[in-house]
Amino acid sequence: MKIALGNDHAAVELKQEILKYLQEKGHEVIDLGVNSNESCNYPEYGAAVGHAVVDGKADCGVLICGTGVGISIAANKVKGVRAAVCSEPVTARLVKEHNDANIIAFGARIVGNEMAKAIVDAYLGAEFLGGRHQTRVDMISDLEK
Ligand code: RB5
Repeated sequence: MKIALGNDHAAVELKQEILKYLQEKGHEVIDLGVNSNESCNYPEYGAAVGHAVVDGKADCGVLICGTGVGISIAANKVKGVRAAVCSEPVTARLVKEHNDANIIAFGARIVGNEMAKAIVDAYLGAEFLGGRHQTRVDMISDLEK
């Protein structure tokens, strides 16, 4: 899978860990985040990953900031993005199955390395269930018109 990865200064170490983890699993990772602890602005990286996903340059995205919240709010402003913050694997699976989330986000100040990997695994291992969920996802898309 082609995965766009983005982060701010609060998540450099966790981003690097996740980058390595995804590559070891055979994924192609486009790193659109920062690799410096110098303070930066998370909306830039949320938007970059959002555009990469909706433009088809990546199949899905992973965003990490301090909480996962700011960077996902920014990504969700890009038309076609459904970014969901997940702090544990059950939510990560359900946001794919029910919401067809095309980006997951989590917080480097909230989850540890192992939990972050479990979140990523749960999301990537899940499939959108369609049916009644498709109707609701279509309704979300309609809100963008
Ligand atoms: C940066 O200090 C922090 O505000 C950011 O990483 C994120 O948590 C915002 O939602």
